[in-house]
Amino acid sequence: MMSDEFIYVADITDIEINQSQSVELDGKPILICHTTKGIFAVEDKCSHADIPLCGGQIIDNFITCPVHGAVFDLTDGSVQSPPAFEDLETFEVQIEGTSISVKKSISE
Ligand code: FES
Repeated sequence: MMSDEFIYVADITDIEINQSQSVELDGKPILICHTTKGIFAVEDKCSHADIPLCGGQIIDNFITCPVHGAVFDLTDGSVQSPPAFEDLETFEVQIEGTSISVKKSISE
């Protein structure tokens, strides 16, 4: 049986617009991105060389990997530009006031 739970990870006021913050959920690094298009959560690991995306430039809903410049769409994790060719895992986000929570799936 699967159940879903939202876990508090960060406060919006702690992340400036077009900035991101890396958090951990179950030992997995997740990047919380505060964009002009909304808050998005993706795996904080570039699919090109398994390096954190944290610190990558954010424009609209796109993030550029700080290492080799691959671009990802934060809304669905889809890769937009090489050298990466695999999409990122994305996580559903819930906002309550200024609290950001990320959905974690639990299998029982
Ligand atoms: S590690 Fe991200 S593009 Fe190479």
